Amino acid sequence: MQTCFQRELQLQSAQLLCGDVADFGCGSGKIAPFLTDKADVTSYTGIDYSSEMIKIADWLIGQFDCPSFSTFEGKIEDYQGKMFDSAVSLNSYYTWPDPVKVLQHIYSLLKPGGLFVLATPNTRIDMLAMEKEVRKELLTHPDFATFSQINLALTENTDARFIDMNDLIKQLQSIGFSVVSCHQSFYLGGLNFLVLEKH
Ligand SMILES: C[S@@+](CC[C@H](N)C(=O)[O-])C[C@H]1O[C@@H](n2cnc3c(N)ncnc32)[C@H](O)[C@@H]1O
Repeated sequence: MQTCFQRELQLQSAQLLCGDVADFGCGSGKIAPFLTDKADVTSYTGIDYSSEMIKIADWLIGQFDCPSFSTFEGKIEDYQGKMFDSAVSLNSYYTWPDPVKVLQHIYSLLKPGGLFVLATPNTRIDMLAMEKEVRKELLTHPDFATFSQINLALTENTDARFIDMNDLIKQLQSIGFSVVSCHQSFYLGGLNFLVLEKH
């Protein structure tokens, strides 16, 4: 399932990506279709440790005529492939037990001057308010009830590392990233969205 909130995020993130692109914690690779006809994208590598997600991502990528699009099944921290011109990580950070370690590895995989688009919920995310909006759009979908339950459970999940923008920026700067821009316009204000650059 896909909500208007996710689609807006994927579309705007895709616009920023170019060259050899990495998608860290790609899930089912939902951003990949938006990169398929971007002339400035030379390749896409979706990285995720869930075999189920990678299976769906492989299927999705296979629906497009893009031989340079591929996936890697494994931990972000363990990926040792090529260096990337740009990278994206949407809604994965909050699940990382050691975010600094993962971010350091992402930093090491970017070419100098490489761009990194990071999106992760902040502590003000209001899943109930988002659900109210999403309901208008997806109520008729046969899987809406399950989808809704999973999303609302996130509010109770004490393992989810929601982080304030200022704390996140300090963390990213300590690794060496510089902040090109940042805002909280997505997800009714509940999402930190940052465009970062490797020095
Ligand atoms: C909420 S999903 C988001 C998926 C996708 N980015 C999207 O926006 O649709 C988070 C994904 O991050 C993956 N993930 C979390 N930690 C990871 C890690 N250390 N290495 C690889 N994948 C990871 C999970 O398996 C999951 O598919």
